[in-house]
Amino acid sequence: MRKSLLLAALILLFPTVLEAYGGPSRPDTLRVLAIGNSFSVDAVDQNLHEIAAADGHVLIIGNMVIGGCFLEKHWRLAAGDSARYSYHKTGPDGVLVKRPQTSMSWALADEKWDVVTFHQSSGLSGQAESYEPYLTELLRYVKARTPRRCRMMMHQTWAYAEGSTNHNFPTYGRSQEQMYEALCQAYGTAAKRHRMGLIPSGTAVQNSRHTFNRENVTRDGYHLHKWFGRYLVACTWYEALYGTSVVGNAYRPPHLDGRRAAIARQCAHAACRHPFTVTRVDFDNPFDTSNGNWKPDYINTDPSKVPDYTLPDALTMQDGRPVQTAAQWFGQRRPELLELFETEMFGKAPGRLEGTKWEMLEEGPALGGLARRKQVRIIFPRRGCYFTVLIYLPAQAKGPIPVFMGLNFEGNATVQPDPAILYPDPWRSDGYGIYVEQPRGTQSSRWPVDEIVRRGYGLVTFHNAEIDPDFDDGFDNGVTPLIYREGQNFPEPDQWGTLSAWAWGMSRVLDYLEEDPDVDAARVAAIGHSRLGKTALLAAARDERFAMAISNDSGCGGAALSRRRYGETIRFITGNFPHWFCGNFFQYVDHEDALPFDQHEFLALIAPRPLYVASAEDDSWTDPVGERLAFQGAQAVYDFLGLDRSLTEYHIREGAHELTREDWLRYLDFADKHFNR
Ligand code: GCU
Repeated sequence: MRKSLLLAALILLFPTVLEAYGGPSRPDTLRVLAIGNSFSVDAVDQNLHEIAAADGHVLIIGNMVIGGCFLEKHWRLAAGDSARYSYHKTGPDGVLVKRPQTSMSWALADEKWDVVTFHQSSGLSGQAESYEPYLTELLRYVKARTPRRCRMMMHQTWAYAEGSTNHNFPTYGRSQEQMYEALCQAYGTAAKRHRMGLIPSGTAVQNSRHTFNRENVTRDGYHLHKWFGRYLVACTWYEALYGTSVVGNAYRPPHLDGRRAAIARQCAHAACRHPFTVTRVDFDNPFDTSNGNWKPDYINTDPSKVPDYTLPDALTMQDGRPVQTAAQWFGQRRPELLELFETEMFGKAPGRLEGTKWEMLEEGPALGGLARRKQVRIIFPRRGCYFTVLIYLPAQAKGPIPVFMGLNFEGNATVQPDPAILYPDPWRSDGYGIYVEQPRGTQSSRWPVDEIVRRGYGLVTFHNAEIDPDFDDGFDNGVTPLIYREGQNFPEPDQWGTLSAWAWGMSRVLDYLEEDPDVDAARVAAIGHSRLGKTALLAAARDERFAMAISNDSGCGGAALSRRRYGETIRFITGNFPHWFCGNFFQYVDHEDALPFDQHEFLALIAPRPLYVASAEDDSWTDPVGERLAFQGAQAVYDFLGLDRSLTEYHIREGAHELTREDWLRYLDFADKHFNR
């Protein structure tokens, strides 16, 4: 009795006595120490404290970090009492402080830990034999230095993205499924053997891959996406630590939309209930994961169900004034519309970056003497960013040649079965993280180079993913960070998304073509299929040096009207491809009528240059009717400007969503007309 009175008096007089033991704390304070590496940085350094706080808990988080550290090394460092860790500590106020050169014994003594977690490095995570005897030894070491009630837990790491360039991936036959199964086995065995709890992050990640979000969970093929992936795993930790469902928790990180945040919570919750099997969380999921199709009840493909809508008038200024002259269109209305498309939909791109260089990598004869091939590298001044452009020109032609410029989906080598086409360095200097080396020529049906050169044109193409990878990496990779100011790590709501970055890449190639004497830079047609059709339209809308625009099945966000809500809608396109657009665009999900424009005005931005829009009959996802209506809306502007009808052309062919030789034949005829061939 007297002893405790004395202690109480001491505590009152000297609050610092308590501070030395971790500070005064609320009774429900939980203290968790992770022993890990960059994967524990992904897991606990952000979001976790906030998620707990949103439910009224105080959480103190320690994180012992050495890049790539594996269990054997943790054990060696602990045994040798080496002060080699970076000790990250998130205090009760949520502020993270890093302490370099910390030893395991120091960190273990820093707080009265309630939970200590361990994980194996990702490369070894699926190899159970690599865990022992180090895990046994580490547990003994940690238990000797923590309170008796302290819980020991295994943190299950996750499998790599399909196509991940991580050098450990071959151990698992480059198969995500194989890696996931192996790591489930290994973590399960370890947790059971030592009677430890499990934080099933790997399963949460795997669950999320079976939702509409698919591979958009890592940022480089193995580290977590900065917003979605990290939040998902923090949710998993929260539920595993507290045993309370994370579904319904109010915290959501900045830059993560509500739908994606909800999916993350569902996936985390499902993983905590079924830690070793994938659960299909079909929450508002328009994508049928069992057959790879869109669920019919989620998209409208019934023409009678198109809602009533009123299109904005292209020839009325935002302030209501009518556009009365061509000069007013070009001087006021067109710039106003372009600005709106840039700020509300695609995001602004920078101009040409000072210090950009190009390098001729290779030149030679091609297609059995019919063509000449050039491969040029465009090199940006920062972050080791570069990409390679593939050019085919007719072998015989004299003088500067008009060309078609279009991005390709799968890499330059897929454009033709030409053994001289270079594959990119696997993978690129700044670690884009996901790369699948496709066999040569697999996309050649989309690129009838023989016909193009025979007709006297050149083809200029490059791989979209070399500019900016086509997955939601949290805007970490590719060119998007090139514009960040000091301390910025995500584009502003009106700064470029990936479509804008790709279109910007087309302009940078045009910069090069202006210097290439073989090419007539005044006769360059921007062409693209589907997402790359949206890109071609944007490139030409923004950069008036493009002399023609050709949109092949570009659909939602391209040539199709948004207000029809037929086939793909803004909800689905932003849900499935959140990286394509700028942040401002998300406010129009389910609010199409609030858009200050529609896509007929996007097409009208091409005037007075030739515009070609094409659809395919069986391609209801792109809404061919919506494409035609937008095209007609744009034609009205061409008419108003007194331009000849021959400058605009539309076709719909039989068949599916594709860029075919038949489409190309029409584009070549169109180019013949306008490029004076
Ligand atoms: C998806 C997407 C479309 C896009 C297409 C493509 O279907 O929803 O908007 O045009 O991919 O690029 O092939």
